[in-house]
Amino acid sequence: VTVPMAKDPVRVLVTGAAGQIGYALVPMIARGVMLGPDQPVILHMLDIPPAAESLNGVKMELVDAAFPLLKGVVATTDVVEACTGVNIAVMVGGFPRKEGMERKDVMSKNVSIYKSQASALEKHAAANCKVLVVANPANTNALILKEFAPSIPEKNISCLTRLDHNRALGQISERLNVQVSDVKNVIIWGNHSSTQYPDVNHATVRTPAGEKAVRELVADDAWLNGEFITTVQQRGAAIIKARKLSSALSAASAACDHIRDWVLGTPEGTWVSMGVYSDGSYNVPAGLIYSFPVYCQNGEWKIVQGLSIDEFSRKKLDLTAEELSEEKALAYSCLS
Ligand code: NAD
Ligand code: LMR
Repeated sequence: VTVPMAKDPVRVLVTGAAGQIGYALVPMIARGVMLGPDQPVILHMLDIPPAAESLNGVKMELVDAAFPLLKGVVATTDVVEACTGVNIAVMVGGFPRKEGMERKDVMSKNVSIYKSQASALEKHAAANCKVLVVANPANTNALILKEFAPSIPEKNISCLTRLDHNRALGQISERLNVQVSDVKNVIIWGNHSSTQYPDVNHATVRTPAGEKAVRELVADDAWLNGEFITTVQQRGAAIIKARKLSSALSAASAACDHIRDWVLGTPEGTWVSMGVYSDGSYNVPAGLIYSFPVYCQNGEWKIVQGLSIDEFSRKKLDLTAEELSEEKALAYSCLS
């Protein structure tokens, strides 16, 4: 019998690890949901001093859970210690909007957090570290991180729109009463905000009679062009209204999906949505972190090219790009 060589552990940073997404996410990572059932991990958890005690409690629980794949835990409020040697960085920490705060105030706080964490990652992370920004405004935080970590290749910096992608799959599966795993190739274009465009024009469902277009099966363009889109766009707000807290288990699960597909690849013929640095594909202005359909292979994503964009979609792609350009300008104004 040949015993396969154990893999070296991968170091995964989670910032904001004492928060609610962090609490849902770290056990998923430690169980192999993010990197696979044979991949040992060392968790690096960062939070700020007021959350240090609670962060230590999370570390105690990770020890108590006796996860076989978990080879070590670093729990710290020191950003350099947190970033040192990490192969994957999931940026969940950020400053939330509080009552009475202007958009600009929230942006300003997050710009300064992402600027300093960018420098720490650039100096101390492992070569080829992959970065996923979850904290809102996710696209613009990722853009700031990219700007202030110029030696990290731009292809290594992304933001989370997989939650929106999964929400779109969920809505179609509920509507058609089919397995969610039989629905594929929805697209989230643009910002992780209510201007995002959930697009089903290329989405299909696996049926006993072969792959069928979602538009054909739903056969209700009014729903697909109306309520479906607004439901996905507003889902984050609906969860906040229901839970009095923002989505956490679904966000954590989507973060695992995002990294898993990026590292291990997307199945043949299936794309996913990721917020990535725009190269001008689909006439989206270059220089924004914008959500596109991507294929992943050998640890790299590639924007799916050549999809037809009708007039209805074009307007929606442009609207969310405009919002991102405004956010970018606001973020830059906070730097000066
Ligand atoms: P939370 O408030 O429960 O946790 C955030 C944690 O970040 C807190 O523990 C806080 O102390 C910590 N933190 C603050 N500043 C930090 C810093 N400078 N360095 C390290 N840690 C810091 O919030 P949550 O519910 O876990 O959500 C986290 C973020 O994710 C929010 O911005 C939320 O809007 C966003 N979010 C994004 C998506 C998405 O799909 N992209 C989905 C849901 C939530
Ligand atoms: C979500 O999509 O659930 C969150 O981004 C909502 C929010 O504002 O935190």
